[in-house]
Amino acid sequence: MTHGTFISFEGIDGAGKSTHIARVADVFRAQGRAVVQTREPGGTPLAEKLRALVLHEPMDALTEALLMFAARREHLVQVIEPALARGDVVLCDRFTDATFAYQGGGRGFDWQVLTLLERMVQALPDGGVRQPDLTVWFDLDPQIAAQRLASARLPDKFESQPADFFAAVRAAYARRKQEMPGRFARIDAAQSIDAVGADVARVLDAWRHRGAA
Ligand code: TYD
Repeated sequence: MTHGTFISFEGIDGAGKSTHIARVADVFRAQGRAVVQTREPGGTPLAEKLRALVLHEPMDALTEALLMFAARREHLVQVIEPALARGDVVLCDRFTDATFAYQGGGRGFDWQVLTLLERMVQALPDGGVRQPDLTVWFDLDPQIAAQRLASARLPDKFESQPADFFAAVRAAYARRKQEMPGRFARIDAAQSIDAVGADVARVLDAWRHRGAA
C-alpha cells in the first residue's frame, strides 16, 4: 500500500490554478513533507515530448486521447507511483479529469472509451484504479477565462478553441465531480487571487480534518 498524498488541480484554461499550486507546495514543505510538483500532459522526458506534439499538432480525436493516456502512463510509472510509495506529496497540474473534460467534453469523444482507457492506464496491483486523493477544481465562467487569456501569451491548440468548447469542458468537469464527489472540491475561480487562495487553504484544511492526510 502507498502512504503518499496525491492532489490534482483542474480547470479550464485561464482559471488561474498555477499560482495556487506553488502555494500549496509551500504549505506541505513547511510541514516537512517531500513534495513532487508535476504536470500533465508531461512530467517525464518522454511525456513532455508527447505534450509538445499533442498541444501543437492537429490530430484525430482518438489519437489525441491515446497520446494523453500514453503520457499519463509514463508519468504514473516513472514519477507518481514511486513518489507515492515513498510517502511524498504529489501535486499534479491536471490529471485524468482533464482528459474527460477536454477530450470527452470539449471534443465530444466517447466517455465510455475514456473510462476503459482510464482503467487500463491507472490500474493498481490490487485491482483498483489510481485516482487523486483530492482534486481541486478551479471553476470559472468560460467568458471570464477568455478575457483573462486574451492578455496572456500565444495560445496553444486548446487555448485557441471557441467559448462553446470551454462551456463543454466545464460541463464535463461538473459531470466528473458528480461521478466521484468524494475527491472533488470546487473552488469559485472568479474571485480575487487572494480569495481563491483562502478557499484552497480551507479545502486543504477540511480535507486533512477528514483524516485523509
Ligand atoms: P495547461 O495545463 O493549461 O498548461 P499551461 O498553463 O502551460 O498552458 O495546458 C495543458 C493543456 O492540455 C490544456 O489546454 C488542457 C489540455 N489537456 C487535455 O486536453 N487533456 C488532458 O488530458 C490534459 C492533461 C490536458
